[in-house]
Amino acid sequence: MLENIPANREFDAYQAFVLDCKIAWTRQMFPLLRDRFEIVAKDVQPNTAADVAALMEGDTTAQMFGWFERHLQRMKYSGLRGLTVHYNRYRDEIRRALNSDLPAHLLQLDPDFQQPEYYTSIDIHQHPGGVWSDEIAGFVYERGAQSTAPMLKKSESLFHRMKTQAMTRASHEVKKVVDLGCGWGGSTRPYYEDHPEVDVIGVELSEPCLRVAALRAAELQAQNVRYRQADATETGLNGGDTDIVTSTMLLHEMPPSHIKAVFREAHRLLAPGGLSIHLDFLMRDDPFRVWVHNGHSSRNNEPFMVPLNGMDLLAAHKEAGFDAVEIVPFEEFDGALSPDNTAWRFPWTMIIARKPGSSGNQDL
Ligand SMILES: C[S@@+](CC[C@H](N)C(=O)[O-])C[C@H]1O[C@@H](n2cnc3c(N)ncnc32)[C@H](O)[C@@H]1O
Repeated sequence: MLENIPANREFDAYQAFVLDCKIAWTRQMFPLLRDRFEIVAKDVQPNTAADVAALMEGDTTAQMFGWFERHLQRMKYSGLRGLTVHYNRYRDEIRRALNSDLPAHLLQLDPDFQQPEYYTSIDIHQHPGGVWSDEIAGFVYERGAQSTAPMLKKSESLFHRMKTQAMTRASHEVKKVVDLGCGWGGSTRPYYEDHPEVDVIGVELSEPCLRVAALRAAELQAQNVRYRQADATETGLNGGDTDIVTSTMLLHEMPPSHIKAVFREAHRLLAPGGLSIHLDFLMRDDPFRVWVHNGHSSRNNEPFMVPLNGMDLLAAHKEAGFDAVEIVPFEEFDGALSPDNTAWRFPWTMIIARKPGSSGNQDL
């Protein structure tokens, strides 16, 4: 079915062009922007993103940088041969594939599910209708993820790296993992694929994303995963028996009140000694990069990136019942954190805590 969607040279060429422009923006335009900033900041000491914004006001490199970021993303989804425009033509094929019979255990949907208001109020990532309102949105999102972070050749390698971090830090045997905000299942797959002995549950708001995640698991004949439609703050899963609660790129998509509730739910789900580990974006120590990050937040329709960046994560974890939190940079590809890497990158960061208790190493 999905394999019946024919290759289309114009679409492939258009998307390759957009991606190549994004790579040029990443590798060439971003270092140029930094050079411009260093020239204008030579005699002053900007301490905050607001200081940098004031200095760069009216700078044409900054304007070009922002224009490209905003409009390449718009072209990717909504342009002449954008993802939503193109796949709309194959709606019937995609719908049939997503509604095909799957093993019953794989997918738990809630027909009465009410989406949170923050979630429906914005077209996240400039994806028209967000990733939830159109039946083919999950499929489109899966395709779109191939060019979200253009320095990554394959998004899978990022997911595998994160899974390895989590499994290595879990100090006792891992039997159960919950992946919150699992999207189309990219972040969940390494757990169930590489660890058939582990019981894996993906939790997600969006039915269209969950349908793609379940279809991919069925294609792989996975026996140890299930996907559940629920809010990450209230999963409805049993408490006290999960070894790892994880998320990838979830926290920056929700307001702080929701983030705090996710930490509380993670604490409830975890067994004593269990690991809470979230991969997200934090940029706090470089005012220039904070300014760029804040700009990305508004240009990519991701308004909660800024409040996440300002949150007191230690207090939020303590309030949820954790004793401590560790904030660790995450290397999404070899050399990503090297000072020699002058390209733009997301400020990937792991937010790690451990539920106090007897079974497992109490060190972070
Ligand atoms: C940027 S995507 C990341 C998806 C996946 N973890 C990955 O790395 O590809 C964030 C996901 O979180 C989901 N999400 C947002 N708020 C949520 C919530 N309150 N509960 C569960 N999922 C949520 C969105 O629908 C979206 O699929």
